[in-house]
Amino acid sequence: MRHQLVLVIDFGGQYTQLIVRRVRDLGCYSEMVPWTGAAEKLAQGRPDAVILSGGPRSVHDPGAPDLDFSLIEGIPTLGICYGHQLMAHRLGGRVERANDREYGRRHLANVAERSLVSDLSSDQVWMSHGDQVEAPPHGFSVTGATDTCPIAAFEDAGGSRFGVQFHPEVSHTPDGRTVLHRFLFQKAGLQGDWSSQNFIDDEVERIRAKVGSDKVLCAVSGGVDSSVMAALLTRAIGDQAVCVFVDHGMLRKGEAEQVVETFTQTFHPNLIKIDASELFFEALSGVTEPEAKRKVIGAEFVRCFELHAEELAGCTWLAQGTLYPDVIESGSPTAAKIKTHHNVGGLPDWMKLKVIEPLKWLFKDEVREVGRKLGLPEDVVDREPFPGPGLAVRILGEVTAERVRITQDADWIFRSELKSRGLNKGIWQSYAALLDVRSVGVMGDERTYENPIVLRAVQSEDAMTAQAFPFEFEFLEHVCNRIVNEVNGVNRVLYDLTSKPPATIEWE
Ligand code: XMP
Repeated sequence: MRHQLVLVIDFGGQYTQLIVRRVRDLGCYSEMVPWTGAAEKLAQGRPDAVILSGGPRSVHDPGAPDLDFSLIEGIPTLGICYGHQLMAHRLGGRVERANDREYGRRHLANVAERSLVSDLSSDQVWMSHGDQVEAPPHGFSVTGATDTCPIAAFEDAGGSRFGVQFHPEVSHTPDGRTVLHRFLFQKAGLQGDWSSQNFIDDEVERIRAKVGSDKVLCAVSGGVDSSVMAALLTRAIGDQAVCVFVDHGMLRKGEAEQVVETFTQTFHPNLIKIDASELFFEALSGVTEPEAKRKVIGAEFVRCFELHAEELAGCTWLAQGTLYPDVIESGSPTAAKIKTHHNVGGLPDWMKLKVIEPLKWLFKDEVREVGRKLGLPEDVVDREPFPGPGLAVRILGEVTAERVRITQDADWIFRSELKSRGLNKGIWQSYAALLDVRSVGVMGDERTYENPIVLRAVQSEDAMTAQAFPFEFEFLEHVCNRIVNEVNGVNRVLYDLTSKPPATIEWE
């Protein structure tokens, strides 16, 4: 079945992915396309509604993000922030530099009755702009203003084009959901035909059509994404899905055993386990640069599969648990490449398997929901995200068996303390990283000269942004004491307070 599609055109806005999430939360399937790819995407088929995102530029800048509005003629459209300004600019209104740059909370006033923004439960709206609309296009009426922004919302008489200067997608606009809901259901007449269940039904069909009678190698890491991916493939093609777990020796303490147990006992008894830690450590010997590590690991995974070709005989596809944020962060025309998440970009050219990525349009919470629907146990579905290259990206400098042991032991202490106090519930990801600087300490009257451990615990909605978890000092001190006393090779423990951005969640 074809879903209705809400196409979000990205003009480089900070919150564009959030728009997509909000629309999907409201039960409508949504995809994001960079403005540079909008014409091509629109040529492939007409979406049922369009949302134009915010963006940092001025419509008057040379080379500013743009859109040919004739391509979306007749399609219900909502412009947000830059999208609102571009709509005005392109349809004959006027956009100018505002005297007062509006940033933060504002109050929406002079609201027109029965408009997109009428009767909201809160008049608070979140603004972030330097330019503003000074005259609406012909045939548009102004439906809301703030004390410094006279045209904070407008809509056309035909009832299909809407613009808001504020951001309805962020939580600082408390009733932004109503604005989006009204646009989608009342104005654009969408039905709300998107749910995790029909995602599963559709994807099962799509996988079957794509792979036919071929066998698909499903590489599972024990993480949520690859587990859900393997469960979905198993649902779609049964034994044609060959599930393989490669133990690269860089998982958390006890995790390899746990993965095998969960998989074989709860849903895939034929899991093939490959113990490859020695191969990985050998390949990583002397490698210290983060991107180089990812490439080595990506290549080693594939080499492993090739070495076990007999067990994996006949597999012509490799399924991966790539998610939407991985796709976005691995580089699109409007987003800078931050790091190669190995399950997207690090696979070598000589790899012969074709790649299938059934989750690549989903956000993490959607993947968890799909996992639940597929019957995966809660402890798998709720597991913290863990990077494919494992502890290699949490061990700065060279990865050796001994340095992995130190990191695992410290990580174990940190996470068991979190669990025993029930703190893990509010945390997106938590881990211990080992640095490659050494510092002097004193223990039992002896001088030590060792590496520090960094503790990282963040709160996040989707890994695109994150904040450090605000622990009590006493808790951190307790964990610090346990680690320096119980883990050989560590003489200092630090807590990382940095948010994302400007840092990333992982250290590499
Ligand atoms: P960063 O560190 O970029 O991470 O803020 C965002 C999310 O992605 C995970 N991550 C990875 N996952 N391969 C993966 O499969 C990778 O190379 C990789 N690097 C980061 C990270 O744990 C976080 O959830």
